[in-house]
Amino acid sequence: MLKAIVYHPNAQSTMLKSAANQDQGGSEGNNKVGVIVGSILASLFVVCLGICLFVRKKKKQRKRDATSHGRSRMEQIPENSFSISHQDEDLDLPHYDFTTLAKATNNFSFTNFLGEGGFGPVYKGVFNDGQEIAVKRLSKESRQGLDEFMNEVKCIAQLQHRNLVKLLGYCIQQDEKILIYEYMPKKSLDFYINDQKQSKLLDWPKRLHIINGIARGLLYLHQDSRLRIIHRDLKPSNILLDDEMNPKISDFGMARSFGGNETGANTKRVVGTYGYMSPEYAIDGLFSIKSDVFSFGVLVLEIVSGKRNRGFNHPGHQLNLLGHAWKLFKEGKPLELVDNLVVETCNLTEVMRSIHVGLLCVQHSPEDRPSMSTVVLMLSGEGTLPQPTEPGFFTGRKLIDASSSSSKPESCSVNEVTITLIEAR
Ligand SMILES: *[C@@H]1O[C@H](CO)[C@@H](O)[C@H](O)[C@H]1NC(C)=O
Ligand SMILES: *[C@@H]1O[C@H](CO)[C@@H](O)[C@H](O)[C@H]1NC(C)=O
Ligand SMILES: *[C@@H]1O[C@H](CO)[C@@H](O)[C@H](O)[C@H]1NC(C)=O
Repeated sequence: MLKAIVYHPNAQSTMLKSAANQDQGGSEGNNKVGVIVGSILASLFVVCLGICLFVRKKKKQRKRDATSHGRSRMEQIPENSFSISHQDEDLDLPHYDFTTLAKATNNFSFTNFLGEGGFGPVYKGVFNDGQEIAVKRLSKESRQGLDEFMNEVKCIAQLQHRNLVKLLGYCIQQDEKILIYEYMPKKSLDFYINDQKQSKLLDWPKRLHIINGIARGLLYLHQDSRLRIIHRDLKPSNILLDDEMNPKISDFGMARSFGGNETGANTKRVVGTYGYMSPEYAIDGLFSIKSDVFSFGVLVLEIVSGKRNRGFNHPGHQLNLLGHAWKLFKEGKPLELVDNLVVETCNLTEVMRSIHVGLLCVQHSPEDRPSMSTVVLMLSGEGTLPQPTEPGFFTGRKLIDASSSSSKPESCSVNEVTITLIEAR
């Protein structure tokens, strides 16, 4: 009877009623007993309710902890508690079985290995029906926890644009976290830049098509999608190419939605790749849509020149690709930047415009950089463009060669930037 009262949601009123009945009918003694019994029941009820709420809260918290602390916590918690938690999310995306994926990729064999993506290796797979897929298996050593994983899954599932790689499904099983993407037969832009043989395949119209495609994909991420996304790690290996050389942006592992707040954010955990990161992001961990614009600018200059920003070498100076482009631009000979391989196929107006837009995007100060909507207009328009100011990070090979993609640059490289700024004037 007590149990029934305690656990019944309407129990309190029932209990009080019976206590009240006793009050009315009985003598004074009865009355006292009634009051005592009533208050005991009431306090029991309150205590039990408290325990129930506490236990429930603890459970929720544990779930949240597990999500934010990732794998180490995950191992302590039975697998099925996760299948419940990730079914909670209204994900309209198929969950694949690990064995299906192992079969599709020959047990993740070396022959199926496509490359190292953000947080883990990517394998080519073929489903039984012949559909080709790219399987990104997050490395167990990766720092990406369940929260980042689910963040990536949810983000990509909701984002659909012809210049974004499409997510086909995912898999969470024991300590495996896997993403299944559409397969991109022409690999990534990384494969073409700075490779004499491969970059021949990219004539000028194709390069311009790729630049425009990346711009539109990024514009979608920044402004047009329901979520507003900062990519944070835009670089050639994250630009995949489909059969018709349409560029598709991939790897949203580090993407963060910033729901309508354009003031950006500050992060202690710098993710991204040197050579593509804007100064305010690499040095202060400040990222915004404008840090993506910077990376986009680097990409544009790399596509036009066919050279990498990182490790760029020029016999005449110590500048990197950005500095080189800036120097040529100021000297009024930006066309010297153009990849010899595309000189024949290029349209001077378009090349000049691309270089100009690229330099506007890599300007040192975030406020000076155009937004992606302006970039798209600039690339297609014919109006005059503003004069770019100095690029950020246009020298300091030491900084650019710092290979780690997540450690802070040494402060000496900051000095170096300042010193050479003076030199370059
Ligand atoms: C994959 O591994 C499983 C067990 O480890 C094995 O039974 C199976 O034959 C392997 N398949 C291939 C294609 O190597
Ligand atoms: C946006 O972020 C800034 C800085 O973090 C904060 O001061 C501001 O209140 C935020 N605005 C909104 C609308 O959330
Ligand atoms: C070069 O591109 C511009 C703008 O896209 C176009 O108007 C012009 O006709 C092109 N010139 C040549 C020679 O193809």
